[in-house]
Amino acid sequence: MNATIRPVLTGNRALVVGIANDQSIAYGCAKAFRTAGADLAVTWLNDKAKPHVEPLARELEAQIMMPLDVAQPGQLEAVFEEIGKRWDKLDILVHSIAFAPRADLQGGLLDCSAEGFAKAMDVSCHSFVRMAKLAAPLMKEGGTMFAMSYYGANRVVSNYNVMGPVKAALEACCRYLAFELGPRAIRVHAISPGPLKTRAASGLKDFELLLNEAAQKAPLGELVDIMDVGWTCAYLATPFAHRVTGGTVYVDGGANIIA
Ligand SMILES: NC(=O)c1ccc[n+]([C@@H]2O[C@H](COP(=O)([O-])OP(=O)(O)OC[C@H]3O[C@@H](n4cnc5c(N)ncnc54)[C@H](O)[C@@H]3O)[C@@H](O)[C@H]2O)c1
Repeated sequence: MNATIRPVLTGNRALVVGIANDQSIAYGCAKAFRTAGADLAVTWLNDKAKPHVEPLARELEAQIMMPLDVAQPGQLEAVFEEIGKRWDKLDILVHSIAFAPRADLQGGLLDCSAEGFAKAMDVSCHSFVRMAKLAAPLMKEGGTMFAMSYYGANRVVSNYNVMGPVKAALEACCRYLAFELGPRAIRVHAISPGPLKTRAASGLKDFELLLNEAAQKAPLGELVDIMDVGWTCAYLATPFAHRVTGGTVYVDGGANIIA
C-alpha cells in the first residue's frame, strides 16, 4: 500500500496487548496507530517474551512497557494503574490474545477438557471483558476497543475446534460491551482477520491448508497481512468511524461472503 498516512490519531493514547513478535497482529495494530500519530503502551507476556517484544516497543517509541499475563492475578490491574498515573486518558484498547492448551486445541470439541475449555475462554474471551471494565473509566473522552476474532466463530472451520465457541463468545461480548459502553461514547469492535501465519496460528493443525484456501476463496484473491488489520483498526479508531460500533469487521479480502 502506497498511501500517505496523515497523523489522524495524534493525541490519542493506545494500549496494545498481544505482541509476541513482528508477525503478531497486535504489532500491525501498534505500528498503524503509531504511524497515525498515537502514543503507545505495549505489554509482553513474561520474561521469556520480553527480549522479543521490548525492541519492537522501543522502535514504536512506546511510552509505557510492562509485563502482562492476564491469567496472573493483579497484572492487568497494574497495567491500568500505570496508565492512569502516566496518561491523562486512554483512547484505544486492543485485545489481540488467545490461548488454549495444545491437547485441547488440537482435539475435537467433544474431547476438550473442562479445564482446557475454561482456560481458553478465560484468556481469549473473558480477559477482554476485564480489560474493558478497567479501560472504560480511563476513556474520558470516549474511545475504541478491539478484540480479534475469526470466521470460525460463525461457521465451522476444520481444526479450529474449541476456539470456534470461544470466538463466538468473544463476538457476543463485543456486542454487549458496545451496548453497555455506547452511552459513554466508547465503541467496541470484533475484528475478524483472514488467516495469518503467526505464532498462535502455528498451534492449529493443517494451518497451511487454511491459508491456501483463504487466498483462493477471497474475491480480492490474496491473503491479508498484519498491516491490513492495523490500518482497519486505525480507521475505526478515528472520528471518521464515530458512529460504527458493536459489529464484526472482516479483514479477509471478502472471503466471508463466499459460500
Ligand atoms: N493468525 C491468524 O490467522 C488469526 C486470524 C484471526 C484471528 N486471530 C486472533 O488474533 C489474535 C492474535 O494472535 P496472532 O495470530 O497475532 O498470534 P500471536 O502468537 O502473535 O499473538 C498471540 C498473543 O497472545 C498472547 N497471550 C497468550 N496467552 C496470554 C496471556 N495469558 N496473557 C496475555 N497474553 C497472552 C501471546 O503472548 C501473544 O502475544 C488472537 O486472538 C488470535 O486468535 C488470529
